[in-house]
Amino acid sequence: MSIASVQNLHKTYQLPGGSINVRALRGVDIDFVEGETVAIVGQSGSGKSTLMNLIGCLDRPTSGTYMLGDVDVAQLDDDELSDIRGRRIGFVFQNFNLIAQLSILENLEVPLFYQGCPPKIRRDKAAELAELVGLSDRAHHRPNELSGGQQQRAAIARALINDPLIILADEPTGNLDSATTAEILAIFDELRQRRKTVILVTHEPDVAARCNRTITLRDGVIIEDARNEAAASAPSASN
Ligand SMILES: Nc1ncnc2c1ncn2[C@@H]1O[C@H](COP(=O)(O)OP(=O)(O)OP(=O)(O)O)[C@@H](O)[C@H]1O
Ligand SMILES: [Mg+2]
Repeated sequence: MSIASVQNLHKTYQLPGGSINVRALRGVDIDFVEGETVAIVGQSGSGKSTLMNLIGCLDRPTSGTYMLGDVDVAQLDDDELSDIRGRRIGFVFQNFNLIAQLSILENLEVPLFYQGCPPKIRRDKAAELAELVGLSDRAHHRPNELSGGQQQRAAIARALINDPLIILADEPTGNLDSATTAEILAIFDELRQRRKTVILVTHEPDVAARCNRTITLRDGVIIEDARNEAAASAPSASN
């Protein structure tokens, strides 16, 4: 089942002064299927983050269409865009972006807090997700008391708390060593088994190899869109 699709997507940035345009995306077509893990790869400046920002409803395309579920994102105003972003998308960042003053559990509750979710439900959901990512015993610690891998696991749990359609991760393992990267990849495998759709940007071939699908960008166009059947058929083989 297609969960999101972009068609003939273009993004042109206008630099200050208006005389120079950067054509960051030049006609991108992708159909995302429920439950797949997609790696977006390509050299620096190829348009990966631009594509992630559009999929994440942080920005609108210059032209082309983006359907998220049954919503035509290009037609939304700013309020509607931020609403759909809060409800349908989970973000994981390279530098975790946890709030230093809050405990791990409180960090997980933040997205629900902004939606006016009652405290008891917030706390229960946060505890459930802390357990999913193996952080129950760290739930009351502050982020700086956790390792990088544990912080990233907390960030993934936070991204899941709204039960989003799509989880977006721009270089989620960029700041982690290889052992810690393996922990994060194991969680992505678990998410795939739970039929979550994960789209990540990576420069690491090992990380891309664990995804079901690899999309390669060059100069704002897709030069390859490849399925990785081995990863698809044996998601937990390396756990
Ligand atoms: N806000 C912006 N304003 C102007 N140009 C931008 C903006 N964001 C990105 N660009 C340009 O668009 C092109 C694509 O950038 P993008 O950040 O999408 O690349 P990337 O593939 O994510 O690169 P990296 O691997 O270095 O993160 C680049 O030429 C970049 O300089
Ligand atoms: Mg980038």
